[in-house]
Amino acid sequence: MPIKSRIRTIPHYPHQGIMFRDITTLLKDPVGLRLTIEKITNQYKEARIDTVVGIEARGFIIGTPVAFQLHTGFIPIRKKNKLPAKTAGRDYQLEYGSDRVEIHVDAIQQGNRVLLVDDLIATGGTAEAAVKLIEDMGGEVVACCFVIDLPDVGGRARLEKSGYEVFSLCEFE
Ligand code: PRP
Ligand code: ADE
Repeated sequence: MPIKSRIRTIPHYPHQGIMFRDITTLLKDPVGLRLTIEKITNQYKEARIDTVVGIEARGFIIGTPVAFQLHTGFIPIRKKNKLPAKTAGRDYQLEYGSDRVEIHVDAIQQGNRVLLVDDLIATGGTAEAAVKLIEDMGGEVVACCFVIDLPDVGGRARLEKSGYEVFSLCEFE
């Protein structure tokens, strides 16, 4: 059974009209979890990744085992006011309103080759803010990895237009 079949869809969550792609059913499945981490790790094992950056919250679940398998460390990008030491931040637009992601200013070393990981890309607003933050800190984004791409929403095209490599394990219309 492929990864996509293990992802559950909840219609109208958290808002009317949204088809929520729920990875908890993928994560609880031992084969699904292993396949997910292996597929990302195999794709980037020769890419000389220095560090994996994951985006709160679901990017932490996927990003940490990927870092472990790539023998790198893991750096969290968190929503605003969650990180305890000195941070840098970037604001980004949501469908309604805006939000902010932050990183510790001493997390990334100049020239570090970074693999960005999250569970899903929709508009790409979150990933774009994360990419800019990584670059603000002197990192080089080797690729942006997602379990799920929603191509109709346009995030992947947005990142690729800006020159970033995007890798995803499945797509939902
Ligand atoms: C979801 C998802 C991505 C983001 C993608 O996170 O995990 O981080 O939305 O959307 P975008 O491409 O339109 O920016 P969410 O903001 O729901 O936060 P959570 O993981 O903390 O629930
Ligand atoms: N984040 C943004 N859009 C989403 C969706 N359709 N399902 C799960 N998480 C999301």
